[in-house]
Amino acid sequence: MYVPKPLLRAYDKPVPRYTSYPTSPHFGPVDDTTYREWLGGLSRYEPISLYVHLPFCKHLCHYCGCHMKVVHDPVVRSRYVDTVCQELAMLNAALNGRRVVGQLAFGGGTPSYTPLPAFHKLMGAIQAHFDIAKTAEISMEIDPRTLTAEFAAALGEHGFTRASLGVQSLNKETQVAIHREQPYEQVEQAVDWLRFAGIDSISLDLMYGLPYQTITNMDKTVDLVCTLKPERIAMFGYAHLPSLKKHQALVEPHGLPDVELRQDLFNSAAERLLQNGYVAIGMDHFAVPTDPMAIAVREGTLRRNFQGYTVDPYDTLIGVGVSAIGNLPAGYVQNELEIRPYTADIEAGRFPVRKGLALTVDDKARREIIHTLMSLGKVDLAQVAGHWGVRVESFKDALPKLESLEKDGLCTLRDTNLELTRVGWGLVRVVAACFDSYLGKTSPGSTRVAIHSKI
Ligand SMILES: C[S@@+](CC[C@H](N)C(=O)[O-])C[C@H]1O[C@@H](n2cnc3c(N)ncnc32)[C@H](O)[C@@H]1O
Ligand code: SF4
Repeated sequence: MYVPKPLLRAYDKPVPRYTSYPTSPHFGPVDDTTYREWLGGLSRYEPISLYVHLPFCKHLCHYCGCHMKVVHDPVVRSRYVDTVCQELAMLNAALNGRRVVGQLAFGGGTPSYTPLPAFHKLMGAIQAHFDIAKTAEISMEIDPRTLTAEFAAALGEHGFTRASLGVQSLNKETQVAIHREQPYEQVEQAVDWLRFAGIDSISLDLMYGLPYQTITNMDKTVDLVCTLKPERIAMFGYAHLPSLKKHQALVEPHGLPDVELRQDLFNSAAERLLQNGYVAIGMDHFAVPTDPMAIAVREGTLRRNFQGYTVDPYDTLIGVGVSAIGNLPAGYVQNELEIRPYTADIEAGRFPVRKGLALTVDDKARREIIHTLMSLGKVDLAQVAGHWGVRVESFKDALPKLESLEKDGLCTLRDTNLELTRVGWGLVRVVAACFDSYLGKTSPGSTRVAIHSKI
């Protein structure tokens, strides 16, 4: 993905990552009553995806953009799990019984920092209120610094199939600057424990755009992680938004790579991963060719959701826990961000939903265009229009923007077939944004103009 430098500078503006469309800054108020109606409308026979948000961490990484909270007290962390168990019971009641879970994901924060008895209790509650499909992918986000052999074994016992480990960078100077010191040996130990527990798919998160990253030390990080033979590697560009995440200001005194160095870091790492036999997936993932994500690209079924790229085929994602976002056929719904009011709502028998958005057919069609383009690099606008029963002309507002991007060599539009060029892959979000009819509008829930990360 090589974008010529003048273009890179010209398009160096904040653009959403489109883990949802419309994006969350455009969510407005949604309450318990609406959520119950939406849940009531779900088909009894279709499996769902379940996402559980466990926000606690042992340490604060200064770059962190996740919804997390440093809490050391195991009693507080266990009590939170009790509340999540209550939310699961409420869902069972609102859904009139058990539903099949085809995909189960634990994200955070650091789910692997959950006290072990509380984790067993949580798994028990999920099994009490839902049927986990035998073929379900069960995954967890893990911080190697807090993983124990016992916790890894527990994941194996509960049938986990995939673990994502945060690595970011193995360059010592970078690690000190971002407040995340984690020697290679610690990552290696965590991977060994997980493999020994029977977790077949290991995914490692790397980041580019952090302080003191150079091509040389980035290549070294990539070479080291390749020795661990992960099935997947995510290569996230550091999103620096200190206005939203105040602690990110602590990264600034160390200096940040400019947009050109960011591109060089990504490209150099990508090239090394390709040499090591990985295939590129979308804009920021790599996988071994036999990985379901690589297969999904070949079969044209790769999708996007709140966790990034996914092979999840289900149309309903239910989120539990603070800040969790659900994606139902009727619309998006997001839970309360803070633990106290979240707990108070659950104890009062109310779903702790705060924000969301009822999806129109136009939203769903544009979402399919945006996500298909970002997953596969091409999309047939007429096919999407046909799928949703809308006229292809309803996307005509995108045409002048696409024409200008086509002149810059980012994409080609032949009849209704839109395709990214090699350069366009480097600016895929800019191309996708042509179909975003909310971009630049203020959100209904606030007067703040939506802020998004740069490339
Ligand atoms: C929930 S964390 C992963 C699990 C665990 N908490 C850990 O850090 O090891 C999710 C991932 O998001 C990525 N991430 C966090 N903050 C980010 C930011 N500001 N920009 C880009 N990626 C970020 C990191 O790669 C991190 O591993
Ligand atoms: S990157 Fe992971 S461990 Fe670090 S603060 Fe964020 S969620 Fe916690």
